[in-house]
Amino acid sequence: MSDGGYDGYAYGYPHKTSYGPLHPPVPLERAWQTEDKKKLFLYVHLPFCEMRCGFCNLFTTVQPGAGLVQQTIAAIHRQSEIVAGAIAPERIAQAAFGGGTPSFLSEGEIEQLFSKLRGTWPVQWQGIPVSFEVSPGTITREKLVLLKCMGVDRISMGVQSFVPQDLVALKRPQPAGQLEQACRMIKAAGFPVFNIDLIYGNEGQDSKRWQTSLERALEWSPEELYLYPLYIRNLTNLDRSGKRPAEHRRDLYRQARDFLLAAGYRQVSMRLFRRADINRATDYCCQEDGMVGLGPGARSYTQSLHYSSEYAVGQPGVRSIIEKFNVQDSPGYACADYGVMLDEHEQKLRYVIKSLLRTAGISHGEYQRRFGSSMEEDVPQLLELFELGLATDDNSVLRLNDEGMVWSDTIGPWLYSDAVTSRMDVYELT
Ligand SMILES: C[S@@+](CC[C@H](N)C(=O)[O-])C[C@H]1O[C@@H](n2cnc3c(N)ncnc32)[C@H](O)[C@@H]1O
Ligand code: SF4
Repeated sequence: MSDGGYDGYAYGYPHKTSYGPLHPPVPLERAWQTEDKKKLFLYVHLPFCEMRCGFCNLFTTVQPGAGLVQQTIAAIHRQSEIVAGAIAPERIAQAAFGGGTPSFLSEGEIEQLFSKLRGTWPVQWQGIPVSFEVSPGTITREKLVLLKCMGVDRISMGVQSFVPQDLVALKRPQPAGQLEQACRMIKAAGFPVFNIDLIYGNEGQDSKRWQTSLERALEWSPEELYLYPLYIRNLTNLDRSGKRPAEHRRDLYRQARDFLLAAGYRQVSMRLFRRADINRATDYCCQEDGMVGLGPGARSYTQSLHYSSEYAVGQPGVRSIIEKFNVQDSPGYACADYGVMLDEHEQKLRYVIKSLLRTAGISHGEYQRRFGSSMEEDVPQLLELFELGLATDDNSVLRLNDEGMVWSDTIGPWLYSDAVTSRMDVYELT
């Protein structure tokens, strides 16, 4: 394992930059034929934002105008019907609206979106975890009331930092007081889970400033906190202006971890900390169950195929992918034409990576039940983690120790297969 460290994160495997054109395209009916459809995750991607933040390379476009938003919602409606018809879902166990910034939609547009999904998908909206991402500049009291009525139980806000100098360094301008006002509204609306995203490691952020941001976050008693080490990604504004992340991101991580554990939070992964009294139950298992993505940029996962629309960061590329998505119909929505196939070894690696990077670790019994083989034999690299002092094994569960967790963003990519790594190496971002 190299000491390269924090280059990117492994929240999904295989990474989207390993996707490519599928020849021939795979009909969704066939792709989903043998899947368990009783515990699906429905993900809806809304690729719209007010502005492009300096650090962000997500699939989104800024200031799209009402016409493009309307066309995209109409296209998601068509896609929704065609996809549901093709895959015959039995039950949605969890749902999320991400982006981009879903709260960029007006109240009327949010209502439109939900009403169509209600009619198409087998979802008990009030009985399952439903998450919705918002930004401080686009969320309003009225939208929050509406979201609650629609069954949303988790609001996730990209705060990034409570310290104005950090927001300047991250190139995420925000009017004074806007952040606090948004937090106040969300708290007052009384959602079961309020998540705050923070970034650490931008230029000029020392441990004192990071501490201030963490303490301000806890003033809102968020049920969850996602802490992201800053990554400078290709084609972002920070990258173009030659910025580099701070050297001491690991120290900032340790500082936050110790502070949050002492403040009554439990660690779920290197990024996610949850208040100890919170239990947001779901029977969806991210290592095993399928994900159905709707909207341009959304990814979908079956056991052996991951697919999406194409991906871009630059505005012309993003716009053209959205426009192409918006004029599609059947058979376009009924087939996967861009993605990556996962053979049995890739499926095992995915299971190992997704499990190992969480504090819960990998259960030997679960692995054996799932694959009928032993994880050390399938992925012998895991044994090196013990030699490096990064993992423990009590014969029941193999898990990263505290130091291993510090290195999770290195361990994830280190486990990627050669095939996936070489696909990622030749990927050209536009
Ligand atoms: C889908 S986005 C955010 C939601 C919403 N659009 C917003 O920004 O308010 C999820 C989170 O990923 C994190 N993120 C995105 N790009 C990042 C990067 N280059 N480095 C670190 N964290 C990043 C940010 O904390 C962001 O809030
Ligand atoms: S961080 Fe959020 S608001 Fe900023 S550009 Fe990315 S998706 Fe949009």
